[in-house]
Amino acid sequence: MKSYIIAPSILSADFTRLGEQIAECETAGADWIHVDVMDGHFVQNLTMGPVIVEACRRSTRLPLDVHLMMEHPETLLKEFAAAGASSMIVHVETCPDIASTLKNIKELGCKAGVTLNPATPVTYLEPGLAQADHVLVMTVHPGYSGQEFMPEIFSKIADVRRRLDQIHSTALLEVDGGISAMNISHVRDAGADAFVAANAIFHHPEGIATGIRSLREKLR
Ligand code: DX5
Ligand code: ZN
Repeated sequence: MKSYIIAPSILSADFTRLGEQIAECETAGADWIHVDVMDGHFVQNLTMGPVIVEACRRSTRLPLDVHLMMEHPETLLKEFAAAGASSMIVHVETCPDIASTLKNIKELGCKAGVTLNPATPVTYLEPGLAQADHVLVMTVHPGYSGQEFMPEIFSKIADVRRRLDQIHSTALLEVDGGISAMNISHVRDAGADAFVAANAIFHHPEGIATGIRSLREKLR
């Protein structure tokens, strides 16, 4: 059976207990920890930098998937890699030469990921597809956790899947935004391999472990 990746996004974690909550994710079978970096420019919100990635690195052995929602991501790639990022995902909207940014990420020893906003056409991914280890499709407008999944993006996920299959890419197709137990199996059916979720995990009424379990169950 194919195994799918569940990546809790710490954006909805209780930051007074970040280490504990990451450990809880790991015990409950999370595959990666997703870290949402926001710069107050590319997106309105302002969140975390290399210091938090470094704290996460000391809290878990799980891969740290660092999503860079920032202008000029090249300026901090080295710092995020040194802090312990396992993968770094950059937006096509912020990278004039996406192929070379992905190459730079790989040279730092990290997996390289590319993503795009809901309003950005899939064709913008093309120059990065052959280099990418992860291709992330945003299913909300980036900036905040707890938003509604945009169902109109299903066809985009399927389109990205087709393009990856066409070039025989082994990149993981990752989906981020509004993922819940209600929609995760449909998102899988559209072609996704990896699922980022903040609210559905950290704000699950029965706790983190149940949040992860309830997503995993829908992928069987
Ligand atoms: C949104 C971030 C997401 C976010 C997901 O800008 O990139 O990773 O934390 O949160 P949920 O799962 O609550 O939509
Ligand atoms: Zn994210």
